Amino acid sequence: MKRFLVTCDPGLEDIAEEEIRKKLKAKVKRFFNFQGKLLVDLKSSKKLFALHSLHHIIELKKTFFLRKKTLDELYEKIKRTNIDELEKADSFRVTSKRFGQHSFTSIQIQNICGKALQEKYKKKVDLKNFDVNIRIDVVGNLCFVGIQHTRESLYKRFKKSFNHPAAIKSTIAYGMLCLAGIKKGNTLLDPMCGSGTIPLEAASLFKDKIRIVAGDINKEYVKGAEENAKLNGLEKFIEFKMIDATKLEKYFEKAEKVDRIVTNPPYGIKIGKRKNLRKLYRNFLVSASKILSDSGRMVVINLRAEMFRIAVIRTKLFKVIHERVVESGGLYPHIFVLEKI
Ligand SMILES: C[S@@+](CC[C@H](N)C(=O)[O-])C[C@H]1O[C@@H](n2cnc3c(N)ncnc32)[C@H](O)[C@@H]1O
Repeated sequence: MKRFLVTCDPGLEDIAEEEIRKKLKAKVKRFFNFQGKLLVDLKSSKKLFALHSLHHIIELKKTFFLRKKTLDELYEKIKRTNIDELEKADSFRVTSKRFGQHSFTSIQIQNICGKALQEKYKKKVDLKNFDVNIRIDVVGNLCFVGIQHTRESLYKRFKKSFNHPAAIKSTIAYGMLCLAGIKKGNTLLDPMCGSGTIPLEAASLFKDKIRIVAGDINKEYVKGAEENAKLNGLEKFIEFKMIDATKLEKYFEKAEKVDRIVTNPPYGIKIGKRKNLRKLYRNFLVSASKILSDSGRMVVINLRAEMFRIAVIRTKLFKVIHERVVESGGLYPHIFVLEKI
């Protein structure tokens, strides 16, 4: 049995834990004092690659404490760490992430650990064409040493010919879809789909078991999202249309209720005007309540948490049944789960 340190979106550890437990029936351990990491015991890393909630997979070789939290101590401890895979390799690189207060940077960790391992194993450092990627994370005074099995983060699983400037990670889309509690036969709508991350994720999970409708007010984005779906062989599972999320009742017949809305409205970082954003959130909520079935559910990710929460309270149409913060690229958007009042 091997021990893997897997990384996920900070704030979605419970989603990753459940996916691992359900799909792989593996033992999972959560950390209480730091986010975005889990420990999994498995014979091989192979099945972890097929999961939807993970970023990186690291086969753990050693964990130790840094009592003095200095680079000299780290250098000495790495020199005493045995990594058999480096005996057989021609080249290696060191990748590092650092969390907490330290007197050194992650680049310095990479340099000092690279030096220690090069002196010990006499192998070439190659940052691009390496045989083995040694991952060394320092979290507070804890150090994790392992072999990173993933080259690129697994959240980049979809091929995209159209990249939206404000796209979310597919792992976050997966988390939102889990929180939506989608059932077979449901109609799912993302009316502000951008490059299509949420509908693509939904199509890869549910295929034809549900109806997926995706739209955006920007014609170019709808075209781009459809292209992305085609590139991934998922276009047959998604209906694309130009949609104004503030007039949703225009696109759905009265009898044609939507069961789940999962979406990522603009945060206003690029659009600007707060007044317009406030109006968009309010009108979207009013319109969404008209097409969502009474037992329906809406999952929204939004960086403007306060503004969105006020819109929910003032429109008096939905109640927040769950709210959490996730970390994404240094930003901390909130995920809201809403049900009709
Ligand atoms: C944050 S982006 C969505 C990004 C998307 N989740 C992705 O991963 O690519 C928000 C999108 O909302 C769209 N939008 C803004 N106002 C809209 C409206 N009234 N109706 C529909 N879409 C709208 C924008 O064109 C933009 O593509």
